[in-house]
Amino acid sequence: MTHHGTQDVAVEESHDSTSVVGGDREAALSAQNIVVRYGGVTAVNGVSFDLRAGEVVGLIGPNGAGKSSALGALGGQLKIASGVITMGGRSIERLAPYQRARLGLVRTFQSTSEFEGMTVFENLVTAGQGAKGAALTQVMFQRKANRDSGRRAVERAWSILDRFEMAETANAYGRELSGGQRRLVEIMRCLMRDPKVLLLDEPMVGVAPRLVAKLVNDLKSVRDDGIALLIVEHALEVVSELCDRVVVMAQGEVICSGTYADAVANKEVRDAYLG
Ligand SMILES: Nc1ncnc2c1ncn2[C@@H]1O[C@H](COP(=O)(O)OP(=O)(O)OP(=O)(O)O)[C@@H](O)[C@H]1O
Ligand SMILES: [Mg+2]
Repeated sequence: MTHHGTQDVAVEESHDSTSVVGGDREAALSAQNIVVRYGGVTAVNGVSFDLRAGEVVGLIGPNGAGKSSALGALGGQLKIASGVITMGGRSIERLAPYQRARLGLVRTFQSTSEFEGMTVFENLVTAGQGAKGAALTQVMFQRKANRDSGRRAVERAWSILDRFEMAETANAYGRELSGGQRRLVEIMRCLMRDPKVLLLDEPMVGVAPRLVAKLVNDLKSVRDDGIALLIVEHALEVVSELCDRVVVMAQGEVICSGTYADAVANKEVRDAYLG
């Protein structure tokens, strides 16, 4: 680990988790006062929350609240104007998305044309080959070190496919999958990278009602592996079933943080979102 800023040094030298400058050391991921702007529009206006290993936190709120912008800031796809983001007490806000992914912070992306044109198996193996991905033929004709990592990715892909009962779709092309299967493959691609923290933006969109329960159970099993999940979701029955805690945003700010029951009982939340 290298340290460039004085803030990082302060984090490293502090042994009292309550006074760590860069954030809560115990937290798998922590955001403190993050701000995201698009030109003159402030989409995220000083948002703070923590995510711990083995918990699912729901990030909810009305359209335009800033949920996706906050997720993009955490993943590194969007730059923050100010604030601090830490993983295990280490500041990561200056790291590129692929560097954050190496530390175990991974997010899903909706199907790309590349995804559509590859089989499920190829999608998984290339995800396991690193941020830039590699064609399966490349994996097969590489030098030994690369071959070994390719072999590990192949084994890992099969074990993930078995675990989520998707082995029979291994040779199906991305474009042939149902909405629910796509969402699951997107999640399985993330798991290929052995994440500590998984960020999901509306994972239930396009999922047939009968598959929602399976996906909820699959996400619970990911959580039970000790992975921290942050889920932006409008389907509130899913949020109440899956999330250990919720963070409610409205107009760029956190208006409530607690259990789903706390949020439902909160007047401000009812007025802004649930009412
Ligand atoms: N690329 C962009 N350029 C300019 N403004 C943007 C951009 N993306 C989002 N915004 C604005 O930032 C604010 C927050 O948007 P964001 O997409 O983060 O909300 P959200 O909570 O994810 O909403 P939804 O539930 O509809 O997905 C909104 O006012 C939106 O119009
Ligand atoms: Mg959004």
